[in-house]
Amino acid sequence: MTIPFSSQSLLMRQLFDRETCTYTYLLVDPQSHEGVLIDPVKEQFDRDIRAIEELGVELLFVMDTHVHADHTTSAGIIRQKTGAKIVFGAAAEVQAIDRSVADQDEIQFGRFSIRAIATPGHTNGCVSYYTDGMVFTGDTLLIRGCGRTDFQEGSAETLFESVNNKLFALADETRVYPGHDYNGRSWSTIAEEKQWNPRIGQEKSKEDFVRIMNNLNLDMPKKINEAVPENMACGLDYDAKRFTHQDFSMHELYEKWKKLGDRELILDNRTPEEFAEGHIPGSLNIPFGKEGENVETLKQYERVYIYCRSGRRAQTAFTNLSIEGLEHLVCISHTGMPDWINAGFPVEK
Ligand SMILES: [Fe+2]
Repeated sequence: MTIPFSSQSLLMRQLFDRETCTYTYLLVDPQSHEGVLIDPVKEQFDRDIRAIEELGVELLFVMDTHVHADHTTSAGIIRQKTGAKIVFGAAAEVQAIDRSVADQDEIQFGRFSIRAIATPGHTNGCVSYYTDGMVFTGDTLLIRGCGRTDFQEGSAETLFESVNNKLFALADETRVYPGHDYNGRSWSTIAEEKQWNPRIGQEKSKEDFVRIMNNLNLDMPKKINEAVPENMACGLDYDAKRFTHQDFSMHELYEKWKKLGDRELILDNRTPEEFAEGHIPGSLNIPFGKEGENVETLKQYERVYIYCRSGRRAQTAFTNLSIEGLEHLVCISHTGMPDWINAGFPVEK
C-alpha cells in the first residue's frame, strides 16, 4: 500500500542525524512517487529505508553533495537495497558510482528535475543541488557559516567564488538547505545569507573571507581517517584493516628515521620545488597527485611514512593510496616539514 499524497507539489522531508548534525533530504514527486535521497548517513540506514517504504517511494537516485569527512554515506547500501543509482559530482572521483554530474547537469525524477551546481571549495568535488526553489548546499554554504577549507583539497578562494558566483546568483527567496547545522536551525534563504552570513555576507571581500577561513584553527573531524576512504567507495566494501591509520608527529618520525629499515620509506609529497628547498634526508619525493602512478613502487615497502608541509596533502594521499589497496601507510596529518626544521633535525637540500 502506498500513502496517497494530498498535494501535487514536491514533497521534501528533512531528516537529521543527531550524532554528526547531518541533514539528509528525501524528495518525492507525489504523483509518480519517484524520489531521490540526498546525503544519507550510514547509521540512519534503517530509518531512511523505513521512510522510503512507508511513503511508497520509488527511489531513483541517492546523491551525495561531496565526500564527507565526518560521517560515512549509506549510498552504497541504499543502492543495494533499493536499486537507486548513486550520483556524485564528477570532480569528487568517487569509485563505483552510477552517474557523475558536472555543472548544470539535470537529474530527472517524476515531474521534477534537480540541477547540479558545481560549488568546489570545501572539497574539490562539491556540488549543490537545486530544485523547485530549494538549494541543497552540502557544506558549501551553511546557515550563517560555510564548510571549512583546510583539508580534502579545500580552497578558501575557490569557495568564495562558488558561493558568490553560483549560490548568491540564485533568486533571493531560494531556500537554503545545508548539509549540517549545529545550532538547531533547519533552513535559510539566499537573501538572509547574503545579509547575515558572518563569513561571506554583506559583500565581504575575497581577502577578508580568506583571512577568516585561514584562521579558524579547527580540530580535525574525529572520523576523517575512516570516513573519507569509506566515502570514496560509496561506503561499501570497507575493510577496516586496509585503512589502519597511525598518526605520527615529526618527533616520532625522527625516531623512526634514525633507524629506518631497508623496507621502510619516507615519502615527501610536496612539490619538487619545496622538496629541493629542504627535505628529510633519504626521503623520496612523489608530488601530491602523482601517488596513484607510483603504487607499484610504494608496494615494495613494508611501511611508508607520508609527510608534507601541514599534513593536508599527506592526508589526502593517504586516502588515495588506501583506496588503491596499499596497507601499512603512516600519515603525518597534523604537522610537517616546518616542525622538523624547527626541531633542528637534519635537512637535506
Ligand atoms: Fe564536508
